[in-house]
Amino acid sequence: MRTQVGIVGAGPAGLMLSHLLHLSGIESVVIENRSRQYVQERVRAGVLEQGSVDLMIETGVGERLKRQGLVHHGVELRFNGRGHRIDFADLTGGKGITIYAQHEVVKDLTDARLAAGGQVIFEVDNVSVHDFDGSATPTIRFRKDGAARQIECDFIAGCDGFHGICRPTIPEGVLTAFERVYPFAWLGILAEVAPSSDELIYANHERGFALHSMRSPQLTRLYLQCAPDECIEEWPDARIWEELHRRFATQVGWKLHEGPIVQKGITEMRSFVVEPMQYGNLFLAGDAAHIVPPTGAKGLNLAVADVRVLARALAEFYSSRSRDLLERYSETCLRRVWKVQRFSWWMTSMLHRFEDDNAFDRRRQLAELDYVTSSRAASQSLAENYVGLPME
Ligand code: FAD
Ligand code: PHB
Repeated sequence: MRTQVGIVGAGPAGLMLSHLLHLSGIESVVIENRSRQYVQERVRAGVLEQGSVDLMIETGVGERLKRQGLVHHGVELRFNGRGHRIDFADLTGGKGITIYAQHEVVKDLTDARLAAGGQVIFEVDNVSVHDFDGSATPTIRFRKDGAARQIECDFIAGCDGFHGICRPTIPEGVLTAFERVYPFAWLGILAEVAPSSDELIYANHERGFALHSMRSPQLTRLYLQCAPDECIEEWPDARIWEELHRRFATQVGWKLHEGPIVQKGITEMRSFVVEPMQYGNLFLAGDAAHIVPPTGAKGLNLAVADVRVLARALAEFYSSRSRDLLERYSETCLRRVWKVQRFSWWMTSMLHRFEDDNAFDRRRQLAELDYVTSSRAASQSLAENYVGLPME
């Protein structure tokens, strides 16, 4: 099989790239090792920046998002038993975020690609990428229904997430990795109950961080900081609710609604970047190139920002044969990536309990929260990063 751009991975990065390329008249084929149902049900991120929302609407995949997305104009930071609202609309000139699950984004993009006659091949295995150093035709090999297949293309986009095969195939010595692993994880649940607040609540508690989020007016998403090696079996539902009640407790008697838990999982916390995000004709995008801890709600948005840059660079190549934007892809993306890394690390540091912290560190953390919620300049800095820095 022959195409212009071969894309590995049908997550938000791979599907959005394929969609944007199609709108520029560029052909692509996406291959994915999981089933369509699996990727469309995998519970992950839920917060879309204004720029990601605008891109979906402008490119014709925002119909359900407009109907079902929940627009928020602020978040609450809760510490010392009190809530403090960060008013995004006031601090950013009217901007906000939209709550819309990642698997819904994936569903909208898959439907759009298939409706437009695009090729998304699910349930492939033995994927490998070859000849992308510029000296031969880039090729993706894989197996589908037991038969060996291959895609020859001009470029390969490695959109296969953190555990994918594209990044590790780049020859040793080319990439530099920057990493921080945090000494905790998040236990996340989805509960069939109306959210207990109209907005997200990020709680700093001496027992650890907790987050109240949502997916719809009937579904609440909640997270608890836990040990990195925590075993989910040690967290029966009653223990989860008890711990959540403690961490969200306020002096004014705010109440957390309980409901049946329909999904439970543990997510590790990591900051990770490779530089550069390109080697020859292989371009890495999204989690394949970088990971942020989820405290800033940025992973999905960063993946979208990368492929927007890549789609534009590829469109320039096919219209003028100029590689200028392609050669600048990594540099352009990394400027945003590092700012988002800084923000995600900062939110994580400010809101979590670090076991090694002493009493001084704890006081400093609370002072930082007090400052962020009482200074307009500091609140504004949080708000402009949270709603999303301008797209390049
Ligand atoms: P992915 O969504 O990981 O997509 C990569 C795709 O490639 C996957 O479908 C995978 O199956 C496929 N793939 C992998 N290897 C191969 C291969 N060899 N061949 C073919 N296909 C392959 N972010 C937040 O902001 N908030 C959250 O609450 C949050 N929760 C998360 C929970 C989990 C468990 C994980 C893993 C991530 C979470 N994230 C969260 C991060 C966010 O979901 C990611 O940043 C986002 O999915 C990045 O999109 P992507 O397309 O780059 O990668
Ligand atoms: C979520 O709703 O899953 C969510 C929200 C905010 C975050 C992380 C995850 O920072």
